[in-house]
Amino acid sequence: MNAHDSRRIEEVLGGAGYESASDASEVDLIVVNTCSVREKAEHKLMSFLGTLRREKERRPGLMIAVAGCVAQQEGEALLNKESAIDVVIGPDNIPELPALLRRVEDGAPPLVHTEFDVEAPGFLEPSASLSPALGEVSTYVTVMKGCDERCTYCIVPHTRGPERYRKADDIVDEVAYRVRLGAREVTLLGQTVNSWYEPEDAPSRGGERPSEFPMLLRRIAREVPELTRLRYTSPHPRHLTDSLVQAHADLNVLPAHVHMPVQSGSDRMLKRMLRRYSRAQYVSRVNKLKEVRPGITLSTDVIVGFPGETESDFEQTLSVIEEAGFVAAYCFKYSPRPHTPALKLGDDITPSVKSDRLARLLALVEHQQSKHLRSLVGQKTKVLVEKRGRNDAWTGRSERHEIVHFVGPDGFDLEGALVEVEVEKANKHSLMGRLLQSDDDLFAMQASREVGRIGLEKDRNRRHRLRVLG
Ligand code: 5AD
Ligand code: SF4
Repeated sequence: MNAHDSRRIEEVLGGAGYESASDASEVDLIVVNTCSVREKAEHKLMSFLGTLRREKERRPGLMIAVAGCVAQQEGEALLNKESAIDVVIGPDNIPELPALLRRVEDGAPPLVHTEFDVEAPGFLEPSASLSPALGEVSTYVTVMKGCDERCTYCIVPHTRGPERYRKADDIVDEVAYRVRLGAREVTLLGQTVNSWYEPEDAPSRGGERPSEFPMLLRRIAREVPELTRLRYTSPHPRHLTDSLVQAHADLNVLPAHVHMPVQSGSDRMLKRMLRRYSRAQYVSRVNKLKEVRPGITLSTDVIVGFPGETESDFEQTLSVIEEAGFVAAYCFKYSPRPHTPALKLGDDITPSVKSDRLARLLALVEHQQSKHLRSLVGQKTKVLVEKRGRNDAWTGRSERHEIVHFVGPDGFDLEGALVEVEVEKANKHSLMGRLLQSDDDLFAMQASREVGRIGLEKDRNRRHRLRVLG
């Protein structure tokens, strides 16, 4: 979400006449987009701002803006902590950035805008002539923002505000548009992406009607048949309904991988975290996915050292990693955050116990990942090629989301091609394979992609004229 917001910031600034600079010593403006999910990111921001202050002392014309969740969380207080800042904007205020910068340039004091757009939620449309994401093989489309959950450790409901949903028509249009411009894989984005409703259907807060996310997936599959892969992140297990499971059974465009944050394997911890599912419910829901899509892989998020976590709670987390068979996990030490309900539980797990548990958890995840990757050696897999690596190597993702490297023949641009590869070797975190496609196949793929690129250029020009006239 944060990376996607950075793109939107670039787009908005591009629209106001800014260009990206490759050399930091030449820039007129530095925007620091921030994350506050864990405290470490916040520490990094403060030390980075210190560096920028020294740069600004050398070049007084340099403007500094702080965006994102730390900006939202701290607001005015950031200006007191760091004198070098000119503008502070929250995640919903990105479109206002150019105007705020102009006002400061014209002599206004540092400005702070951190209001949520609850009444009229905005979802920035892609801007063809500017978007750095255009032409990317794999891209993101926002479907909802904010979060109505109250996971007790999490600052997101505070920094991103209540859930707001984007209209299906706009989502489908953007997916189709991005596909026309070269995307083959789209990841739908949202804090609890699978809680999506058509905005006018959304129940009032806390309502319990099942989400309409599976219908959205079906509509995209039906109306954008050229799309190769449709992913989504991050879902909440509470909304992994039978209807969503059925969508995975029916829609080939959904690849054989889902990221589904579990957070803990202990019911006691899940309750304290207010996750609103039990371990058994989580496991039974993901098992249904495995039944309808044999071979589907799962990844997850896990927190260790949540207040009150005993050795036995932690062992249950280890055992859920085994039971659900995760092949990858983002693992975090609990970090107390301001404005979160868990603050009142204290932070009683010592740093060394947290580190020890994290290391044991990572070792188990790595073990399962290696075992899974080794099990694929000798199998064929479809790889969506994302980029060129060193020498003649290319890198892409399998339908299960593993990173796959392979060597391509000279003279072909394979970016965006969907190729068949035989897995020959498992590395620690990726696979090496042998390309099975003939040169004739590759030639045809490259030619069809070229046609797409010509369309992209035409589209850019048309959009550009529209913008100038408008
Ligand atoms: N401490 C540690 N990890 C956290 N996460 C969210 N809040 C915290 C916190 N206070 C993790 C969760 C979430 C991921 C994005 O970050 O695992 O799924
Ligand atoms: Fe945070 Fe929970 Fe919302 Fe995810 S679902 S953003 S962990 S409050």
